[in-house]
Amino acid sequence: MTDAVIPVPAVMADNAYVNNEAYLAMYKHSVEDPDGFWGEVGKRLDWIKPYTKVKNTSYDPHNVSIKWFEDGVLNVSANCVDRHLATKSDQVAIIWEGDNPAESKSITYRELYENVCKFANVLKAHGVKKGDRVTIYLPMIPEAAYAMLACARVGAIHSIVFAGFSPDSLAGRVEDCDSKIILTADEGLRGGRKVPLKTNVDAALEKVSGVTSVIVVKRTGGDVPMTDGRDYFYDAEAAKVSADCPVEPMNAEDPLFILYTSGSTGKPKGVLHTTGGYLVYASMTHQYVFDYHDGDVYWCTADVGWVTGHSYIVYGPLANGATTLMFEGVPNYPSPARCWEVIDKHNVNIFYTAPTAIRALMGAGDEHVTKTSRKSLKLLGSVGEPINPEAWMWYYNVVGEKRCPIVDTWWQTETGGILITPLPGATILKPGSATRPFFGVEPAIVDAEGGILEGATEGNLVITTSWPGQMRTIYGDHERFVQTYFTTYKGYYFTGDGCRRDADGYYWITGRVDDVINVSGHRMGTAEVESALVAHPKVSEAAVVGYPHDLKGQGIYCYVTLMDGEEPTDDLKKELRNWVRSEIGPIASPDLIQFAPGLPKTRSGKIMRRILRKIAEDEFGSLGDTSTLADPGVVNDLIDNRQNRK
Ligand code: WTA
Repeated sequence: MTDAVIPVPAVMADNAYVNNEAYLAMYKHSVEDPDGFWGEVGKRLDWIKPYTKVKNTSYDPHNVSIKWFEDGVLNVSANCVDRHLATKSDQVAIIWEGDNPAESKSITYRELYENVCKFANVLKAHGVKKGDRVTIYLPMIPEAAYAMLACARVGAIHSIVFAGFSPDSLAGRVEDCDSKIILTADEGLRGGRKVPLKTNVDAALEKVSGVTSVIVVKRTGGDVPMTDGRDYFYDAEAAKVSADCPVEPMNAEDPLFILYTSGSTGKPKGVLHTTGGYLVYASMTHQYVFDYHDGDVYWCTADVGWVTGHSYIVYGPLANGATTLMFEGVPNYPSPARCWEVIDKHNVNIFYTAPTAIRALMGAGDEHVTKTSRKSLKLLGSVGEPINPEAWMWYYNVVGEKRCPIVDTWWQTETGGILITPLPGATILKPGSATRPFFGVEPAIVDAEGGILEGATEGNLVITTSWPGQMRTIYGDHERFVQTYFTTYKGYYFTGDGCRRDADGYYWITGRVDDVINVSGHRMGTAEVESALVAHPKVSEAAVVGYPHDLKGQGIYCYVTLMDGEEPTDDLKKELRNWVRSEIGPIASPDLIQFAPGLPKTRSGKIMRRILRKIAEDEFGSLGDTSTLADPGVVNDLIDNRQNRK
């Protein structure tokens, strides 16, 4: 089954923006003449002052510098909203589908304009100026999109914190970028359950100072505590301001947003994206990868708290004048038919989701799918983690009824937009492969020493030169940016992913090669979970690894050494699980916890994670060399008490 090959449907090859011939020609142009190629593509945006320079980038570890369109001036909000008013003011910009299936609404571009302007004026009234950081901790309601575009309008840098993160995680992110204002809601609503967002903000603000305004959108109308002089309800503030707000002219390289993401070490990194290159890249990829044509209804199920929500719910689609669906809920509420029902309800043409959702819905049974029509669908997409061929085939056969190509899009928070992907009118599909690079993207596979491997091969995935959507720095820590991405393999951007290339030049992402795990499409640093665990008073040491998990892709496996005298009980496991959930958020909830009297360490004290990974995978027959361990005996105890027995 993994050898299956799916041809390009004739209607796609005929009607899509690019067929295979066009792809090959455009790709060649894009890598041979990036200035010429991107110089043309950049014109897809409205510029207040056109650029005269296009690419100016260096991956030299002594001088990493990435600039695109550097003398151009534009505004993202003007590009996503104002410029569509002339022709599309009555077209729906956002279809909002509530958690409760009875709740939905449509927002036209005219209404979007008014809402964004009002939000921008509220920000201004609270002292927000160009360059200020604004933390957004909102659920999936239209106000999240208004807030993002309002920040862009006034030149403020937004930092969205996923509404599933804990008060501690929120506090850390507010502190790191020093934001003075938080935009939140009274409560969120997901799968019929309330999420206490405002209460979480209050708890976060006990740990971090400097926040002078908290703007609270009423979502549920729940009774929430409000602090006088600091907390304001959005609707009361909006009632005081005008529905027109001029845009701030921004340099192409002025920051647009910060988004925190997990790395292999330390605390989350503030990935910084800028204005011009990011929007050019997000909008172009959205158009070509999803073959978006005017009038299509497009639905990406991500949350705006992740980069997929930034680039492919809000910025890419709205820059293209698209109709983008925003979903507040979860795929299995009220039933596993929800996604397919929403597709029928709103006549969705393009559906973009994550393998973890596909696997879960596959497990729920075909009848939930087949009882719906889905006749509007023409294209399916996947993102966030490798998709196993079984899930791919189910998505293709059952959901898309063999009619809809699947674009398996590989990219990262750091890359701003999709880098490796099929184009539906051009690319023969192979289930499980992200296939070929997008225009301007030059991937390479390197060995452990950084030597480039040619032909069919396997190794570490790097990108050899810059593309416009690339992150520019880690907020406040350029040195860490250089260290993290440009020193492992000198001269290249290191992705942290392993990859195979087949004889047809197709790329197959095999997963992370660093200490980052991917749980249900969410990126998690094992170091973060470890530091949460060791913060518990009964824990002396912890090591966390990923292991294969049928639904989540990877599960979180924790080895925990307790303080002397503490009892290793099931109740303590429960306590530790809840502890991690409250320290980081429910997405970091440990799946398996093993109490370990000792961890396998080298004589210099380094934990041998390779061994821990093997035991967590239940593959301890192939542990490799354990002779360098300080105490080889601990391994037997770990094996005897392993928690994942197949
Ligand atoms: C993984 C999400 C295989 C990969 C957009 C990457 C994928 C990490 C795919 C980035 C895919 C993303 N196939 N793996 N199509 N898409 N990944 O920053 O390991 O949340 O490095 O960005 O997800 O996760 P992030």
